[in-house]
Amino acid sequence: MKLGTIQLAPGAALAPMAGFTDAAQRRLAAEFGACFTVSEMVSAKALTLGDKKSPKLIYNGENCAPYGVQLFGAEPETMGEATKLIAHYDFDFYDINMGCPAPKIVGSGAGSALMKDPALGGAIAKAVVQAAGNRPVSVKMRIGWNEEMLTAVELAKRCEDAGVALLAVHGRTREEMYRPGIHPDIIAQVKAAVKIPVLANGDINTAEDAKRLMEQTGCDGVMIGRGALGAPWLFSQVKAMLKGRELPPTPPLRERMALLRRQIADMVEEKGEYVAMSQSRSSAVYYMRGLHHAPALRRACGCLKTMEDLDALIAQVLQENPDV
Ligand SMILES: Cc1cc2nc3c(=O)[nH]c(=O)nc-3n(C[C@H](O)[C@H](O)[C@H](O)COP(=O)(O)O)c2cc1C
Repeated sequence: MKLGTIQLAPGAALAPMAGFTDAAQRRLAAEFGACFTVSEMVSAKALTLGDKKSPKLIYNGENCAPYGVQLFGAEPETMGEATKLIAHYDFDFYDINMGCPAPKIVGSGAGSALMKDPALGGAIAKAVVQAAGNRPVSVKMRIGWNEEMLTAVELAKRCEDAGVALLAVHGRTREEMYRPGIHPDIIAQVKAAVKIPVLANGDINTAEDAKRLMEQTGCDGVMIGRGALGAPWLFSQVKAMLKGRELPPTPPLRERMALLRRQIADMVEEKGEYVAMSQSRSSAVYYMRGLHHAPALRRACGCLKTMEDLDALIAQVLQENPDV
């Protein structure tokens, strides 16, 4: 599968997730075989206003998979301007957010608000493609705004016409937010309506989930978000599934804890201990899934302030889960 000029290795893509998919998270996903990774969403408006924090979201460091920067915005001109403003950073492709359901984003006309106005979504895609130079552009969207406004097929066609090279479709409407259950049939309609590669997204927690969703939708691949948090090895399992090979087993707990430690240590190196440790709390929680005493361990994650706290937590995890 290709993303414009970029040849993608077989594997699932890491979904963009604000507050989670920083450089450390992306690096782990890439090492385990993610076919590409995407930044947290970056505000086009903030970039054009010279905001100093936004560029920090773009930094990638070492990463062995193609990497896209995701922009969100509601105006074609601002999106085009932001596209040019970040061109000097080190990344492989642009991604446009047409799926975020957060009231603040939607209220500004961006994210999944664009599902209500496919013509505007298409115009934004065109502005970004025109400003992107040689870099390809992908779009991440939902299936519509609500049950009455299932606009994904129309928006997908407009994006393809604008020169977008790949689509990722989260199988929920904006109104459904993150409620359990997705609509593979509508993702399948998008796949059937365009020639560019389409990735299916939503509720993939195992390689079997990925296989089923690909079969249900006919999509070229899948994108995984929450299922890969605290479980980056899921990418190696999906990769094996796609290649028809035996799935590598989930790593033993000691190795999983070593991955958690490495992820947080990388965050500390890149952002400093204060910022990194406060952000690490929500990432660490995901590594506690399925463990004995998980509620108490999750509470301990919420109190992490230093690497010493993390080491104490890991010791507690191993002591209380000798059989995992
Ligand atoms: C905490 C969180 C943050 C997210 N941030 C973004 C984002 O910045 N950009 C985006 O396009 N989607 C974002 N999403 C949506 C995910 O990329 C994905 O579409 C959604 O979680 C469904 O996939 P999953 O079931 O595999 O998690 C976010 C989701 C979560 C849970």
